[in-house]
Amino acid sequence: MELTDHAYRIQGLALTELAQKYGTPLYVYDGEKIVQQVETLKQAFSGVKLKIKYATKALSNVNILKLMKRAGTGVDAVSIEEVMLCLHVGFEPTEIMYTPNCVSFTEIQEAVGLGVMINIDNIPMLEHFGTTYGGSVPICIRLNPHILAGGNAKISVGHIDSKFGISILQLKHVHKVVEAYGLHVVGLHVHTGSDILDAEVFLKGAEILFEAAAEFSDLNFLDFGGGFKVAYKPGDISTDMKDVGFKVSQAFQDFCASYGKELEIWFEPGKFLVSECGLLLVKANVIKPTPATTFVGVDSGLNHLIRPMMYDAYHGVVNLSRLTGPERVYTIVGYICETDTIAADRKLREVQEGDLLAIKNAGAYGFSMSSNYNSRLRPAEVMLLGGMDYLIRERETFEDILRHQVDVAF
Ligand code: LLP
Repeated sequence: MELTDHAYRIQGLALTELAQKYGTPLYVYDGEKIVQQVETLKQAFSGVKLKIKYATKALSNVNILKLMKRAGTGVDAVSIEEVMLCLHVGFEPTEIMYTPNCVSFTEIQEAVGLGVMINIDNIPMLEHFGTTYGGSVPICIRLNPHILAGGNAKISVGHIDSKFGISILQLKHVHKVVEAYGLHVVGLHVHTGSDILDAEVFLKGAEILFEAAAEFSDLNFLDFGGGFKVAYKPGDISTDMKDVGFKVSQAFQDFCASYGKELEIWFEPGKFLVSECGLLLVKANVIKPTPATTFVGVDSGLNHLIRPMMYDAYHGVVNLSRLTGPERVYTIVGYICETDTIAADRKLREVQEGDLLAIKNAGAYGFSMSSNYNSRLRPAEVMLLGGMDYLIRERETFEDILRHQVDVAF
């Protein structure tokens, strides 16, 4: 978003005009920025055989998936429904990594039927798999490296108490199952969490993964999951992709040399590809001064963007309606019957009723975690590409609230 020609714009399109055209609340995604992020990642790992598996869960609109496909990524899907979405938009089954957790074996069988890469994250499933398929279907195994990654415990998933993956301490057991059933393990996977800043965390994960990988003889790839950190606050540091790319690629090349085969390196970024591309545009319904705080109540809330309440996540806010004038401190809250603080104590250009605010970093885990709580409608989504705006999801209507409800005559 840049301030040019008397308006905040993306690709030359004024955000206030988009809000007028489509209404608020409105999710807006900068498609060009997404493509740029894909390219940055490709560049950083240009020395190795990189496969990007975009984490569908971050933003799963079919048009975003199509854009990813066009930019040359594969996908990471965590449910059979995400697998079906990805197939629907034209990804080949071989481009889809299916990483479920705590699903029934029936769902895994369904995924096998669809021909996608299965990532198994617990020993009982590995045994079920062995009994049913033996070595006839290649698999990946998700390991838990026991690393506490990132600054937010709620989104760190590689630690010892996490439900995800098979503990590296259980590797011997894994090998017994693999041998007993003649399983064909072609990949190993780790995902330690979100918001990882430091190349060292990836390197630590890599070291553990390399050690484990040395004991599997027929691997084709190692998957390092997602978790690259993007900037949320002004002055926030984000993952230095060049640095991570350089250091991890070097370690990976060394490993491949000792393994005796040039493996593929996979990453599953969600936030890195789509967080900064997205804005949630909302309207100020009311300015409510209290003795302690001046609240700005907007036409959205935790039903549309749950990250601030769920993870104490910081999202920048800009008053798009005021380009100049004094600044005041506000707490921006939603219209939901809960405490749904979107942003506390923020300096914004003086807000007046009806002003349009932009909530930043709303591309990842914004719409995809939204709900109809308080029987509110979900927003429309618009994608900007090549200086054009495309409506990629219609705003819900009251009929959507009633859909699937059964009005029983009792
Ligand atoms: N791969 C796996 C197996 C994952 O579980 C995740 C995220 C990713 C990749 C993508 O991670 P990313 O690059 O987006 O950090 N909803 C939370 C984050 C939890 C995501 C869960 N898994 C948030 O809004 O911060």
